[in-house]
Formats: sequence, C-alpha cells, structure tokens
Amino acid sequence: TDLAHFVSGLPKAELHLHIEGSLEPEQMFELARRNRIAIPFASVEELRGAYSFSRLQDFLDIYYQGADVLRTEEDFRDLALAYFRRAAADSVVHAEIFFDPQTHTDRGIPFQVVADGLLAGMQEAERDLDVTSRLILCFLRHLDEDAAFETLAAAEPWLDRIAAVGLDSSEVGHPPSKFRRVFDRAGEMGLLRVAHAGEEGPPAYVHEALDLLHIDRLDHGNRALEDRALTTRLARSGMTLTVCPLSNLKLCVVEDIDAHPIERMLRLGLRATVNSDDPAYFGGYVNDNYRALIPAGRLDAHDFATLARNSFLGSFLDDVAVTRHI
Ligand code: ADE
Ligand code: ZN
Repeated sequence: TDLAHFVSGLPKAELHLHIEGSLEPEQMFELARRNRIAIPFASVEELRGAYSFSRLQDFLDIYYQGADVLRTEEDFRDLALAYFRRAAADSVVHAEIFFDPQTHTDRGIPFQVVADGLLAGMQEAERDLDVTSRLILCFLRHLDEDAAFETLAAAEPWLDRIAAVGLDSSEVGHPPSKFRRVFDRAGEMGLLRVAHAGEEGPPAYVHEALDLLHIDRLDHGNRALEDRALTTRLARSGMTLTVCPLSNLKLCVVEDIDAHPIERMLRLGLRATVNSDDPAYFGGYVNDNYRALIPAGRLDAHDFATLARNSFLGSFLDDVAVTRHI
C-alpha cells in the first residue's frame, strides 16, 4: 500500500536493538561451521521452528544458547555488519545498539574480542553504508551487581567508544534498585544510562529506573501505562520510550498486534519510538515493526512521521546531527 511504502522509506534511527538478537539462523549455522561448533538443531528450519515463546524467559534461554557460536573478533564484526546491511535497507541511518558482554566473557571470550569486533563492524557500516551508530553496554540483571562492576571495569579502555550503559535480561525479580550503585558509577564516568523496564515488570520498576538509575531513555515501558501519574511524568519530562511491537507480540506482552498500545502512547504525549529488539528471533527488522502497526488503522502518515522523528529526538546524537535528520 501507499502508507506501507511511505513508512518504509522514512529515514529513521533504531534505538533498541540487541546485536546478539540479530543473529539469523543462517549465520548461526555458518559461524558454527567456521568455528567447528556443534549446534543442537539439524537445520535452519528446525531452529526457526524453536522460536516460539510465551514469555521473556523462554526467549532468553534460546538467545543465550545461540550466542555461543560467536567466538572471534571477525564473528562479531560480521554479526554487526549483517545487521547494518539490513538496517540500511530499512532506511535506518543511525542505530544505537546494545551488546551483552557478560554473555561472552562468562564463556571465556575476552571483552576486547567482543568490543573490537563490534566496533570494526560499526566503522565499516559508517564508511560503506552511511549508517552512523553508538554502542550501549548492557548489564545482565539476572547476575549480581559485583559482576556488573567487573564488566564496567573491563570496559574502561573502551569508554570513549561506548555511549551508555543499559540493563537487560530477566526483568521480574531483578529490579533496577539492584544496580543503583553501578549506574551511579557509570554516570560519574560520563556514560549515559538506559534500562529495560516495564516490559514484564511492574510500573514500580519504571519508577526505580527513573529515580535510582537516572535513566536518559526507557526501554519498552509498556507497563508504565498502568500508572496515570507515571505516564504524566514520562510525558512531561519528554522521556523517550523504545517500544518494540513485534517483540511485544512474540513474548506475549501484548495479546494481539492490533491491540498494541503505541497509539495510546502517542495520544498521551509520550515520545514513543519503534524498534526491532531481537529481529532474528521476533520475525522482523525495523520496517516490519513499523508496518505491523498499519493494519489496526489507528495511525496515519503523520503519526508514522512522528514516530520516525521521535527516533532522532530520542537518540544520543548531538543537536547538530539531529537537526540534519529531522
Ligand atoms: N535481551 C534481549 N532482548 C531482551 C528483551 N526484550 N528484554 C530483556 N532482555 C533482553
Ligand atoms: Zn530489549
């Protein structure tokens, strides 16, 4: 349709993308072969068939298992470059990508291998595809705060190339308060701060992310809508929400894509953005996420332009660069 065509061509930034979640089954098999690793699936089809989740944890179990094929700097570079090629095809001109260093360091892959590999892919993407990017280091919230401090220490030589810290993995039972001190330290080191909150966790976790972690951006935030005062606070402060429609559908955060709350978020004055989260697992890159919102019929071309503009306003680009994009 005309609207789908318009939406697909809008220049956009992607602000919620786990690079490990962009590992497509085909690339997983290829890296397994290259690194001589056995994977417990007979084919790409069988692996894709296993991507059926009823909650966040179902997905995380298979996502951490998939990351095991990533071993060398070249693997991380190839992973990043494959993502940027797909992003560029979706009119993404800037991406702020998450990585989970602990998923790799805990299985003996040095932080250096992960960071330098990803940074090489990012540099190539900027040179060859004209897609700019930033790196966000996420702490795994199911691990303890000491482990997060160790990860921050390991990252020190790369801090000039890391824009922000984030918080991801199993939300319920691991509130933001668990990471208050390490987020304070990251702030003192000059890093920006983001956190996943209100995906499966309650509105209280969003309050904690604001009050204790001093976040610059809120990842997901769906359940903030259950709390009127919180919604108003987010709107008044101009907080950006990185919303992930197909992820929400696949992880059963929403029951039906046509019932996705993004339209409500916009009407409530929230600075919502559209993102792919873990595109290889959730059935689509950023344009698939935008286009999935069309059939409900509640968003028009102006709304989609607002969502794309929000992605630049909510990015960590400097004002001059944002002005060039909007
Ligand atoms: N890690 C990768 N994707 C995630 C998500 N949607 N929520 C929490 N942790 C994640
Ligand atoms: Zn996420």
